[in-house]
Amino acid sequence: MTDRDYMSRAIELAKRGIGLTNPNPMVGAVIVKDGRIIGEGYHRRCGELHAERNAIASLTESAQGATIYVTLEPCCHYGRTPPCTEAILAQGITRAVIGSRDPNPKVAGKGARILREAGVSVEEDFMKEECDRLNPVFFHYITHGTPYVIMKYAMTADGKIATRTGASKWITGEEARREVQKLRHRCMGIMAGIGTVLADDPMLNVRIEGGKSPVRIICDSNLRIPPDSQICRTAKEYLTIVACAAECLKGDGQDDRSKKRSRLEELGIQVIHVPDGDGSVDVRRLMEILGGQGIDSILLEGGGTLNDSALRAGIVQEVRAFVAPKIFGGAGAQTPVAGIGVRLPDEAVRLELCKVSQIGDDLLLEYKVGKERACLQES
Ligand SMILES: NC(=O)c1ccc[n+]([C@@H]2O[C@H](COP(=O)([O-])OP(=O)(O)OC[C@H]3O[C@@H](n4cnc5c(N)ncnc54)[C@H](OP(=O)(O)O)[C@@H]3O)[C@@H](O)[C@H]2O)c1
Repeated sequence: MTDRDYMSRAIELAKRGIGLTNPNPMVGAVIVKDGRIIGEGYHRRCGELHAERNAIASLTESAQGATIYVTLEPCCHYGRTPPCTEAILAQGITRAVIGSRDPNPKVAGKGARILREAGVSVEEDFMKEECDRLNPVFFHYITHGTPYVIMKYAMTADGKIATRTGASKWITGEEARREVQKLRHRCMGIMAGIGTVLADDPMLNVRIEGGKSPVRIICDSNLRIPPDSQICRTAKEYLTIVACAAECLKGDGQDDRSKKRSRLEELGIQVIHVPDGDGSVDVRRLMEILGGQGIDSILLEGGGTLNDSALRAGIVQEVRAFVAPKIFGGAGAQTPVAGIGVRLPDEAVRLELCKVSQIGDDLLLEYKVGKERACLQES
């Protein structure tokens, strides 16, 4: 077994935390002595032990003189749990092989330095790309304080996200839709515009076994959401936020919007006022508010009008386009991004292709936007 094999094992372990560690990173650790794995662990859930401590807890013998392989730089600060650097040193581990660097300002190189200063031989950036792919959400959220946004849409081969009548169920096949369910499970929030709620009456929940539903966020400037919509009817079951732009939050409680707001609140919905000064929801400010509430990731499920605003506001980190082998046609049928569009090809929003895969009969194209370290790994 080589260093690569042990780190690959640590990566596999880290992935067991998919969808469960947010807003913490997914991390795996393996402890090796005399060519044998004597301990391994991963971060299971936010608030619980870190991977290194779980690996130490599973030790089958003394780790004196052992090597630890860990996918992310060990923490060195007191958070919900004590520093992992202390635990590593207390075990007499003499070598640490580290994958990703931790951009958390409380760590950022200090974890590796503390180990080095205590005499541990430290190797950094080992299989860095593979390890970085575990945690684009964490890297973004810890650096910016706003959620990592994945804009996802399903379109036909001629680029339509609905037919000319606005119908969009279903464009892709069952396997692709299952993949979307896994993506929803991975994200802490899911966001759509009121146009989609009125057209499709979606639930925006997770329907796979063991899946965890994200907080639902609807951009609805004038509180048009129908109280008998599926979103409203299930708001006591799934956390739901309606972001509005109208002045209803300041009203005296008597006007129609104030009454609508009270009605929505009775249904269990959190109504927040995030005006952009133009009658719409300020999506950039909304991301700051949601980030402040601990939401580290959002699956943006459009439609085209909200997708356009989100892209123009620069809040999107990743695009996932499912492409179905179908053609809807129709000049008036919706496309994934509406608005007026750019004037010249040079003005396009630039994407970087991360991955192309076939899912059933459909294609999935995964793109990075801007300078993110990596796309989210398979769900
Ligand atoms: N195939 C797919 O992947 C997919 C996914 C989603 C939707 N769809 C289809 O897309 C269609 C709906 O698209 P849509 O463009 O009409 O609806 P949308 O993007 O879901 O909602 C747009 C509405 O959201 C509200 N909004 C509030 N703040 C906004 C902001 N900052 N920027 C943009 N919008 C904001 C606006 O209404 P107010 O001004 O009243 O607030 C706006 O008209 C449906 O036919 C649906 O089936 C397809």
